[in-house]
Amino acid sequence: MCPQIRPMTPTFGAEIFDADLSRDDHFEAIRQAFVDYSVIAIRDVALSPDDHLAFARRWGDVNVNRFFQPLAGHPEIATVIKEPHETRATGEEWHTDHSYDQIPAMGSLLYAVQTPDAGGDTAFASMHAAYMALSDGFREMLDGLQAWHSSRHVFGVDSERGRQQEGEEPGKYKNAGDATQDALHPVVITHPMSGRRGIYVNRTFTTHIDGWTAAESAPLLNQLYEHCAQPEFTCRVRWTPGTLGIWDNRATWHKAINDYPGERRVMHRVTIEGVPIS
Ligand code: SIN
Repeated sequence: MCPQIRPMTPTFGAEIFDADLSRDDHFEAIRQAFVDYSVIAIRDVALSPDDHLAFARRWGDVNVNRFFQPLAGHPEIATVIKEPHETRATGEEWHTDHSYDQIPAMGSLLYAVQTPDAGGDTAFASMHAAYMALSDGFREMLDGLQAWHSSRHVFGVDSERGRQQEGEEPGKYKNAGDATQDALHPVVITHPMSGRRGIYVNRTFTTHIDGWTAAESAPLLNQLYEHCAQPEFTCRVRWTPGTLGIWDNRATWHKAINDYPGERRVMHRVTIEGVPIS
């Protein structure tokens, strides 16, 4: 049986059923779905941490997250956990993982271990759909710009996370002293696998347009952030234990929806190295 692919929206995102992650032909179908849909949710797969890593390695080298706590005994697996007493969730603001790196990660494989009865979805936004909805003239203007991204204000020693945030478990993030990455990327990139053009700035990590001050950059960046977050460019993954979600950082934003107070959510994340973007 082949994996069954069910689009989530007419624009992007797909659920995948009946996948056998050990099969090469299924991997090829899943990889093609990733290129076509940018976000995939593979349903009903039982993965031990070793299985998760073995499947992740089919995609490329593992990029070990510097700032998240690892799963005990598995330093390549980052934990994304919200305890019942915590009021903040990891990744609540729209973002693209690792955009502060010179070579941003391809994407992540997030495996749901424990989920709330309802809620705790992840929202995604398609940067290609958002780009294509802009006028020719506006796209042309954006095509000539580059923007700076940084990890410093998010994970660094002077950031809220570096200082420990209210509403979060102590020690949730580590290595604040290593948050020294700054990277310059085009505001619009060509996707290295699909060839599609898409917006590549995000509210969490982008600091300013190259050659502009932060204050000068803010009106344009905020306009883009509001444009890209419109519901018609978004989809949501509803998690149940045994769902493996895979998203493409070069094509999407994502945000964790923090709507399940008092419940526990446990996810394991493996991130895959990317390639230079332009
Ligand atoms: C993340 O931003 O990597 C976490 C997303 C989620 O927990 O839904």
